[in-house]
Amino acid sequence: MASDNVYLNGEFLPLSEARVSVLDRGFIFGDGVYEVIPCYGWHPFRLAEHLTRLRHSLEGIRLDNPLSQQEWESLIHQLIQQGESPDQSIYLQVTRGTASRDHGFPACATPTVFAMSNELKSPDAALLRQGVAAITLDDIRWRYCNIKAISLLPNVLLRQQALDQGANEAILLRDGEATEGAASNLFIVAGGVVITPPKDNRLLPGITRDLVVELAHGAQIPFREHPVTEAELRRADEIWLTSSTKEILPVTRLDGADVSGGSPGPAWRQMYQLYQEYKQQLRGSGDGGY
Ligand code: PDD
Repeated sequence: MASDNVYLNGEFLPLSEARVSVLDRGFIFGDGVYEVIPCYGWHPFRLAEHLTRLRHSLEGIRLDNPLSQQEWESLIHQLIQQGESPDQSIYLQVTRGTASRDHGFPACATPTVFAMSNELKSPDAALLRQGVAAITLDDIRWRYCNIKAISLLPNVLLRQQALDQGANEAILLRDGEATEGAASNLFIVAGGVVITPPKDNRLLPGITRDLVVELAHGAQIPFREHPVTEAELRRADEIWLTSSTKEILPVTRLDGADVSGGSPGPAWRQMYQLYQEYKQQLRGSGDGGY
């Protein structure tokens, strides 16, 4: 099959032939959820964790899971096999389906299930050498940021504001605390301790975040899950952003001021190394990432 194949409602077909109704509630209301699953050396990365988060997101919007665990796994593996590159980013989206426009849930609509794969490129070496700039912005999103909802307009506007100012990401502030990025989780390093805000409704429970926490424990790196105030963010020794596509990015400028002397710090270097080792193990594993 051609490598531009996508999955839509039970079949694999070329992207150019995939069609969804304009009455789909994803299009009309942004009524759906999604996942982004990296895949290294043809192996999905933390698949079980991604599918668990998808289940929680579906529960969060009161939508029955349209596929069983086994069906999801089979779909994802088929998509990966049809891809051209060993490193891919798998995108899954489930919407409440097509129905005449009405805010209330439709009495009987079949969820739309869409999945596609794109080549996944690791962040640029130059970006890792220099680190990235971030700006702080007021978190204008809703109160259920733990749900990976497709209604991402606030995230889009926040990210674009960062890009417009020559920064790579917006770090979001709510109630005097820095919670996460527009599409990434936040870590700081202060006095040798790696700190990330606890998981609550103000941030997405990132799969990369959880792995970084696990790696810190495994390597006995001092770690705390603790709220990060704006003041703590500003005086942090290091700031990192994590996501499935960014991996772990060092922030070296915040609102125009240098962070960790303007270059990636030693704690980032250690964690980045551990993360790369984890990826390498996955590439070499024969278990398909389970
Ligand atoms: N976004 N926080 C937000 C708001 C995100 O959108 C993401 C990821 C993360 C990191 O989660 P994870 O480590 O599971 O990728 C945190 C994906 C990559 C996206 O929207 O494309």
